[in-house]
Amino acid sequence: IPVDPFDLVIFGGTGDLARRKILPALYRRFVAGQFGADTRLTGAARGEMETGAYRALVRDALMEFAPEAAADTGTRDAFLDMLAYVALDARGEDGWEALAARMRSGPIRAFYFSVAPGLFGDLAHRLHRHGLTDETARIVVEKPFGHDLDSARDLNRTLARHFDEGRIYRIDHYLGKETVQNLMAIRFGNVLFEPLWNSQYVDHIQITVAESVGVGGRAGYYDHAGAMRDMVQNHLMQLLCLIAMEPPARFAPDAVRDEKLKVIRALDPVARDHAVRGQYEAGHDQPGYRAQVGNPDSRTESFVALKAHVSNWRWAGTPFYLRTGKRLRARTSEIAVVFKDAPHSIFGAEAGRHRNILTIRLQPNEGIELGVTIKEPGPGGMRLIDVPLDMTFAEALGPEEADFPDAYERLIMDVIRGNQTLFMRGDEVEAAWAWTDPIIAGWETEGAAPLAYATGSSGPEDALMLMHRDGRRWREIRP
Ligand code: BG6
Repeated sequence: IPVDPFDLVIFGGTGDLARRKILPALYRRFVAGQFGADTRLTGAARGEMETGAYRALVRDALMEFAPEAAADTGTRDAFLDMLAYVALDARGEDGWEALAARMRSGPIRAFYFSVAPGLFGDLAHRLHRHGLTDETARIVVEKPFGHDLDSARDLNRTLARHFDEGRIYRIDHYLGKETVQNLMAIRFGNVLFEPLWNSQYVDHIQITVAESVGVGGRAGYYDHAGAMRDMVQNHLMQLLCLIAMEPPARFAPDAVRDEKLKVIRALDPVARDHAVRGQYEAGHDQPGYRAQVGNPDSRTESFVALKAHVSNWRWAGTPFYLRTGKRLRARTSEIAVVFKDAPHSIFGAEAGRHRNILTIRLQPNEGIELGVTIKEPGPGGMRLIDVPLDMTFAEALGPEEADFPDAYERLIMDVIRGNQTLFMRGDEVEAAWAWTDPIIAGWETEGAAPLAYATGSSGPEDALMLMHRDGRRWREIRP
């Protein structure tokens, strides 16, 4: 469905995120016919540059990150024609008149803050001063949304001076992933799962977001952040919320976000020995974390495993185990809902212990799998085995349908449509920091270095122990 006409300004328009994600996403939505050539896209950044040079930069970015653009020169040129560049100083007056001159009255105005959070306040203030924030104006802000609770509160206050909450779109790109949205469809679109979705039937839940890449070129940011701030406070927290929340009455922004907020607020503080952090060592011809960030004494974690408790009526007694890390064995993200044993085995002890496990694979190879127990075929006795009822979306839907759009495609179009369901509300972000801050503070007080783990492994031994000592185990991280 085409969206209304819009003017979009990307602050940080020459940056990595713009080149890698935002512009390719816009290009694909343009190709899909979701907006017309009457759209105005503006890249803004500090450096001087002609629009022609900017278009060339964007063309190169498309070739790299949306390679299908190579074949279709007509569409690509039509897209590039919509683009202009404005050199602009976020902290000074330069360039703002030029930007104002480019904005039309009538179309929706969206301003994408793809810059360091330290500039959010300056940008919001100057947009306002230059009369650019009409009643259609909305801003998109990227993570990290603050470094801790205090800085997130400051950011919220700063933005609130010029924008109502209804105009602020805080991105967590995990919410734009097809399979993450599918979590809600699976839970609330089927009658099958919800009656069992509680501590009476669920033994525990595991959430794994494993990456095989290291910190790459983002050493400066990452070494200051660490896995807890980079991944747990936002992406894993959002997954946990979608798994644990009560059914909202409607699929509407505040209905959904109210329920997520309740989950975060119901989280118990994490006990010291329920939080494990690690740092990868050199291996497989790759440098170790410390060498990669150029900080031989770094105590920043590239891996976290946690045992969390959602203390409410539905979940009391069912732990949530979360883990995420870089340079692990494979890139796999999945959520596993591990059900309890059948209350009584009519087949006797020798039939062994069998459990139903519902696995939601977020990436790669998106799909869901339900482990069920059946009789082992053959004339022998009643032997039981576990087999998967597997639904790989690409198989079930056909490769075309399962060619999922990038998260940013969905999210940017939602900004234009004015739909905040898949964006984080200010109070949600603050509540998430309020939960992670004490864990980080505990580590800082303790002053211990993170535990070393081998590149290509499943993380430090202690993370395995976190489950073993509860008589449980992590699912394997498999390529
Ligand atoms: C980002 C983190 O938010 O998410 C990165 O800053 C991480 O460190 C990335 O690599 C993972 O996203 P995805 O979509 O590749 O799972």
